[in-house]
Amino acid sequence: MCKNQVHKKQTNRFNWKCVPAIIAAPSKVSTTVIIRMIDVGPYKLKNSLFLAPMVGVSDTPFREICTEAGAGLTVAEMLTSNAELWQNERNRLKRVKPTGIGPHVVQIAGSDPELMAQAAALNAELGADGIDINMGCPAKKVLKKAAGSALLKDAELVERILKAVVSRVDIPVTLKIRTGWSPETRNGVEIAKIAEGSGISLLTVHGRTRECRFKGYAEYDTIAGIKNAVSIPVIANGDIDSPRKAAAVLKHTQVDGLMIGRSAQGRPWIFAEIEHYLATGKTLPEIDLKTRLDIIFSHLMKLHSFYGDVKGVWYARKHVAAYVKELLESREFMKKFNTIESPAAQLDCVNAYFSRLDDGQQVDQRDEAA
Ligand SMILES: Cc1cc2nc3c(=O)[nH]c(=O)nc-3n(C[C@H](O)[C@H](O)[C@H](O)COP(=O)(O)O)c2cc1C
Repeated sequence: MCKNQVHKKQTNRFNWKCVPAIIAAPSKVSTTVIIRMIDVGPYKLKNSLFLAPMVGVSDTPFREICTEAGAGLTVAEMLTSNAELWQNERNRLKRVKPTGIGPHVVQIAGSDPELMAQAAALNAELGADGIDINMGCPAKKVLKKAAGSALLKDAELVERILKAVVSRVDIPVTLKIRTGWSPETRNGVEIAKIAEGSGISLLTVHGRTRECRFKGYAEYDTIAGIKNAVSIPVIANGDIDSPRKAAAVLKHTQVDGLMIGRSAQGRPWIFAEIEHYLATGKTLPEIDLKTRLDIIFSHLMKLHSFYGDVKGVWYARKHVAAYVKELLESREFMKKFNTIESPAAQLDCVNAYFSRLDDGQQVDQRDEAA
């Protein structure tokens, strides 16, 4: 079942213009699609390609890296609406505004309309440029409190939360949902209409129900149906992992933008690759090793400086693993890298590994076969 098959109270602070572009569909037949350029309040986004909020991944350093690598908008990791918990180190760091990223969108999760509204107002006071409401997370920890995607089961509560948040802040409020709770109770269209009626500025849809978690394929037909049902901008999310896939999803769903999550980890330049393909119909050459190394170095230095020497070194491990997974002898490299305890030694180790690699021999065939 899970297989195959996205106004504001005063003014709409998300505006979008239609920019026709020629793109090549997977069939290699060139066809015209519409890419919409979205403005957020005073900010003009350079494109409509968003980095997904991902707990443990989409932190301040990674949002800066993805912006430098081409993302038009990045959404922060989900933050509990319970402001009493914001003083712990993890939640304090989640609220740090990245530099040079354009609009700072903070995502909040919770189920109490008043707490959600307070959380939104506090984040706006602290410098958020937009609030995203999480109704898509399937995590048990979140669901236990009937938040995240569990809210999709209660349309009346959804409406109360959205209206409470929108009426409390003057910055754009966006919503991220799944297509429903389960394949039998897909109510994405109903929730999208409630969102539009409640003053939500933009809707992102992860094309799976909560029950489907990350199984099967994203339901682009359902996303197309949601796009067709509302007039606010809709962003498609789920399984977009290449420029051709991005073009195909855009064409199939006619959405206003795309959100990319897992495929950006270890490959933040995917945003530039997609933007180039949508604009020209041509794929960029594979990124060369020097550019890849420069991005990894920049990311490592941001992690070390943001989290400090100890935690920075820990968090760097999963990102580096993602950057090198398709490179020769990456497993052996990661075994060694994971034992390193100092920032400088991490940089040296990555440098030494890359100096042994040659452009043109990047893909580890064993990993491809695995
Ligand atoms: C590690 C991880 C953490 C995530 N954390 C969040 C989150 O904090 N808020 C949210 O709305 N979605 C979260 N998601 C879901 C993603 O935003 C996205 O909807 C999902 O990964 C599908 O997109 P993709 O196929 O491009 O990865 C998370 C996903 C992953 C893999």
